[in-house]
Amino acid sequence: MAVLQEITGWLSHIMFYVLCVVLIAFVAYCLYVRHVHQKYDHIPGPPRDNFLLGHTPTFIKEINKSDGVIHDLFLEWAEKYGPVYRLNSLHFVVVMIYCPETTKTVLMSPKYPKDPFVYKRLFNLFGKRFLGNGLVTATDHDVWYRQRRIMDPAFSSSYLRGLMGTFNEMSERLMNELEETADTNTPVVMHDMVNCVTLDVIAKVAFGVDLNLLKNTDSPFQTAIELCLKGMVYYLRDPFFKLNPKNWKTVQQIKDAAELLRATGEKWIQNRKTAVENGEDVPKDILTQILKTAGMHEKANNLEDHELMLDNFVTFFIAGQETTANQLSFAIMELGRHPEIYKRAKAEVDEVLGMKREIVYEDLGKLSYLSQVLKETLRLYPTAPGTSRWLPDDIIINGLKVPGGCAAIFSSYVSGRLEKFFKDPLKFDPERFDVNAPKPYYCYYPFALGPRSCLGQGFSQMEAKVVLAKLLQRFEFSLVAGQSFDIKDTGTLRPRSGVICTIKHCTQDVF
Ligand code: HEM
Repeated sequence: MAVLQEITGWLSHIMFYVLCVVLIAFVAYCLYVRHVHQKYDHIPGPPRDNFLLGHTPTFIKEINKSDGVIHDLFLEWAEKYGPVYRLNSLHFVVVMIYCPETTKTVLMSPKYPKDPFVYKRLFNLFGKRFLGNGLVTATDHDVWYRQRRIMDPAFSSSYLRGLMGTFNEMSERLMNELEETADTNTPVVMHDMVNCVTLDVIAKVAFGVDLNLLKNTDSPFQTAIELCLKGMVYYLRDPFFKLNPKNWKTVQQIKDAAELLRATGEKWIQNRKTAVENGEDVPKDILTQILKTAGMHEKANNLEDHELMLDNFVTFFIAGQETTANQLSFAIMELGRHPEIYKRAKAEVDEVLGMKREIVYEDLGKLSYLSQVLKETLRLYPTAPGTSRWLPDDIIINGLKVPGGCAAIFSSYVSGRLEKFFKDPLKFDPERFDVNAPKPYYCYYPFALGPRSCLGQGFSQMEAKVVLAKLLQRFEFSLVAGQSFDIKDTGTLRPRSGVICTIKHCTQDVF
């Protein structure tokens, strides 16, 4: 009995000390948060929801709204608080920047690495390795630079020219599919269609695999990519997502999707290695370059080499597909809404291509109005809507000192929609990108800017032009009445309606 009493006594002492330590740690943490607030509170910003969580509750509310686009909130705040404003979450501070000079200084320089809070987090997705140390997420300059140098040849203009055949072939499949519904008044969800094309293109061009998704409709890839993109948003914006039992099923589906992409990478990489070992002639594609990243780190072991290859495999699947598909769907949506722009784009296509079926590289340069349409599409709908950097040192932004040690977000969605940069910003007007119009000064960056800008910019715009030019050449499409023109924020931005069209043949024959 006495022993029991002694143990109980000891336990209550221990409990008491533990509680004291927790309380002291909590108070110390709160003081630290207060210190951070004091350091940054001279920068304007919306009122915090509460002391500790800062603006996080607002973010969570926004992403849980089925029709919310978080960048609209950022836009509203940019209009209210100006070219630099502050957001808080716990002891983290993020500054949102819409000052062209600072955008130039930060994005154009390798001195400002990618924000580790965002990009290191995407190493995993709910505990499953995801983008790892691949090209988009590598935060260490040297690790990134070595990979980028290896990848560059697969995106050189001479290499891209050689891809015209694939761009034509995959777009032709779409045309054949549309042939079947043309003139039948059957509604077609254009987003689903172009999604298949861009996924077919990346699988073929990057990895030498023909998925033929317009025919093989039960492929798991689209759903897997969609789930991963959705997962990235939850994972980054809502730290409490995985704690809620109601979300456990979704979390598991997201992890399975990430696993599917990595397992597919394993298989395709292995097939390619076997082909190389057997002395087969393999294409000099992105997969060949990915294989070259093995052995890149002197100290890395085989397992890490292998994981890095898978990181880049997933990276190209994620970065190289949805963004272009979404741009195409938004472009079709806006062309459908603006008959005069549609007519002008079509007239240009007819003049440049006439009746020929195979689009050649030289044709693309002549389709200048179509380029303007695509650029304007990305101004209003930057499908990858932003990037973020780490500010290691103090920096002056628009006359305001921002102490070093915080993250900076650059939202191309917000800058593309600010009246001070683009007059009448919500008007879809490709004239803004006429060769004689003034060039936007560091306020238009749908592919980011500087050393960490999109590697696939040229690739994606060639691909988008081929698809859109063929569509305009061969069919007349009109939007089915009553659909919404809203944006769906799934990390990337896409049209909520899916862009539902009816299709008719154009009168001229194409050979
Ligand atoms: C309309 C289509 C596309 C848009 C709007 C777009 C946009 C972007 C943006 C904004 C970034 C910077 C991301 C960040 O800082 O977090 C980026 C990076 C990247 N994109 Fe794209 N992208 C597109 C298509 C593609 C395609 C087709 C590929 C590959 C075939 C690709 C490959 C990459 C890669 C590898 C990076 C990382 C570059 C680096 O850090 O070195 N993208 N893209």
